[in-house]
Amino acid sequence: MEQEKLHDLLQSLTLQEKIGQLIQLSGEFFDATDISLGPQRKLGITQEAVDLAGSVLNVAGAKEVKRIQDIHLRQGGHPIPLLFMADVIYGYKTVYPIPLGIGATWDPALVERAYTNTADEARASGLQVSFAPMVDLVRDPRWGRVLESTGEDPYLNSRFAAAMVKGFQKNLAAGSGLVSCVKHFAAYGAAEAGREYNPADLSTPTLFQDYLPSYKAAIDAGVKMVMTSLTTLNGVPATADKWLLQDILRKRWGFDGVIISDYASVYELIKHGFAQDSTDAAAKALTAGVDIDMKSPCYANGLQPLVENGHLSEAKIDDAVWRVLTLKNKLGLFEHPYGGATEEREHAQTLTPEKRSLARDLSRKALVLLKNNENLLPLNPHGNQRVALIGPYADEQELLGLWAVHGERKDTVTIKAGFSEYLPAQQLQIAKGTDIIRDRAMLEKMGVSAEQIGHIISGSNTEQSNHDQALAIAKNADIIVFAAGEHTLQSGEAGSRTRLRLPDNQRQLLAELRKLNKPIVLIVISGRPLVLTDVQDQADAILQAWFPGTEGGHAIADVIFGRYNPTGRLSMTFPYDEGQLPLYYNHLSTGRPENHSQHSGRFVSRYIDNPNKPLYPFGYGLSYGSVQYGELKLDSDTLAAAGRDELTAAISVTNTGTVPREETVQFYIHDQVASIVQPVKRLIGFQKVPVQPGETKTAALTITPDMLSFANRDGEFITEPGMFDLFARPNSQDVHQTSFSLTE
Ligand code: BGC
Repeated sequence: MEQEKLHDLLQSLTLQEKIGQLIQLSGEFFDATDISLGPQRKLGITQEAVDLAGSVLNVAGAKEVKRIQDIHLRQGGHPIPLLFMADVIYGYKTVYPIPLGIGATWDPALVERAYTNTADEARASGLQVSFAPMVDLVRDPRWGRVLESTGEDPYLNSRFAAAMVKGFQKNLAAGSGLVSCVKHFAAYGAAEAGREYNPADLSTPTLFQDYLPSYKAAIDAGVKMVMTSLTTLNGVPATADKWLLQDILRKRWGFDGVIISDYASVYELIKHGFAQDSTDAAAKALTAGVDIDMKSPCYANGLQPLVENGHLSEAKIDDAVWRVLTLKNKLGLFEHPYGGATEEREHAQTLTPEKRSLARDLSRKALVLLKNNENLLPLNPHGNQRVALIGPYADEQELLGLWAVHGERKDTVTIKAGFSEYLPAQQLQIAKGTDIIRDRAMLEKMGVSAEQIGHIISGSNTEQSNHDQALAIAKNADIIVFAAGEHTLQSGEAGSRTRLRLPDNQRQLLAELRKLNKPIVLIVISGRPLVLTDVQDQADAILQAWFPGTEGGHAIADVIFGRYNPTGRLSMTFPYDEGQLPLYYNHLSTGRPENHSQHSGRFVSRYIDNPNKPLYPFGYGLSYGSVQYGELKLDSDTLAAAGRDELTAAISVTNTGTVPREETVQFYIHDQVASIVQPVKRLIGFQKVPVQPGETKTAALTITPDMLSFANRDGEFITEPGMFDLFARPNSQDVHQTSFSLTE
């Protein structure tokens, strides 16, 4: 529709009709299957508000979308189609590994392609907007939603944020693809102590330097929508934070798209103690800049009286409605209200072999080999060894993780199926051994129904026979592969935990298997970095597999049997103990750092009962074979801040092993002296270097002054002359160091 016509349309709407555009409701209001995860509640709004609502949350499927759109266009009284939005976080029907696994790929280009596939798959099913990417930086794995983040590093997160946005929106102009909605603005990932919905309290430099860059990267990549956070930031709920939404997002960053609240977060302004009642909440959210109220009664009931009583100008409402109409228009919904979705197209786009193949590639790139004593892995698929594949995840399709709301278990490749493609039946024996979780009290606390608990926890006889069978096949085997992990319900939204170990029953079984003195490979399925300290000695090899997605079983088998040489590198620190949390590599130094303090006795910055160091650091991961790094070289030892100066750092990598391998060379910087003290190191670039046996290649990074800038107390990025250390490493700990100076 032409701009002018769109404008006329806006002018022709009644106040109530306009407000309708700012209301988003979930499927239950349209008598549709509702796949929302958020808390359900009777909203207390009128049928008229439902009829006039502008968008729908978490309903998908070409047929269903058409049905609802048709009813709406018949009843609505005006010709404005509904907009269909949903959580398409890491795949639609073809599900990828959870974003924390995606972070471990260090491969934004592949991720961009994957998200284009997803967008096409979901659009053909009637969706038009995805509530993704979630780009909240995370430092505390007690928080269940670390699952949805690409990790703890601002640079890496920004690369992935941009890739995901571009991938989603790539085909928009061609009538396919999805509008991307970046979330949760801002700093939801800093929820105190990792407890869900807790406040975030951050200094200005930390907020700007660490937490905001990934949202900014999404804006720069052209994201069309932003979702607020459910939490408070420095005492102000993000959903009504004028400073965040107006001063930073709109004015400083120039964002002119739609801002949507999170689920009921406008209403929750009351619970936060920021608004008196729902009318006050509506006034505060709208004035701060929230265009659409997701699943709360506030806009539906509050905006009209506010305008009629003169407390809110209708022009403000018009601005918000204009942004919503503009988005609908850009999607071509006025001409094509189903957004191009048909059942045929849906069928043709869903779970195609090409999409599965890319998902398999992404899944295996996400796998991180944490330990591999005496090169136990890869297993030789042509050897005669007998493998006992044991554990609750051995033959389990629940490999998608909590936020794959559209993915279906039935489409998922199990680890057993993956292994069966490599080993003949007589060499592969499988036993569940034990349930994933047997903690009834925890499940009850999560609100899991008695019936569901009955499916999760086996009766004691079944459990005993699973256990006996596992030991029997283990005794007969040459190698034990133990597929363990946390339950899907233990991570994701509202999945905060204080103890991050594998479930007790699984650890007990692993300890028993260890007594058989056979080599053990441990596969860990999880939505977060678990504390693996107490199981690390119980296994000879450990493969961190996250929730690996639809093609998970294939990907895991590809790595275990050496068809794919693992390249995954952690994008989030694995703690040694929960008591260290939050724990992240790019921290500041103290005045008395461990090992570098002038004090030698008690008074240094450390724990007296545990190390400071993590179990596995950021950037860590093993591959098969071996490499050797050369010397880190710079083509100049000074860089001028003025002008367009640059210098190049280079380091050679030689494959000293017998198998091809890909090295992810990581470049970190440390600003030795600054007016706001800087992290002991921070990532400024990386390069993937494929090297054949015997081959030497060079990884290089061009460094420009802006890469050395940091955020000051006003949130402005500045550079200061001085000395910088540069590290090129295979992870954030091993050192190849040099230094240079930045001059005026
Ligand atoms: C989550 C959002 C999600 C929304 C809609 C909320 O509970 O915080 O991430 O997009 O629900 O499903």
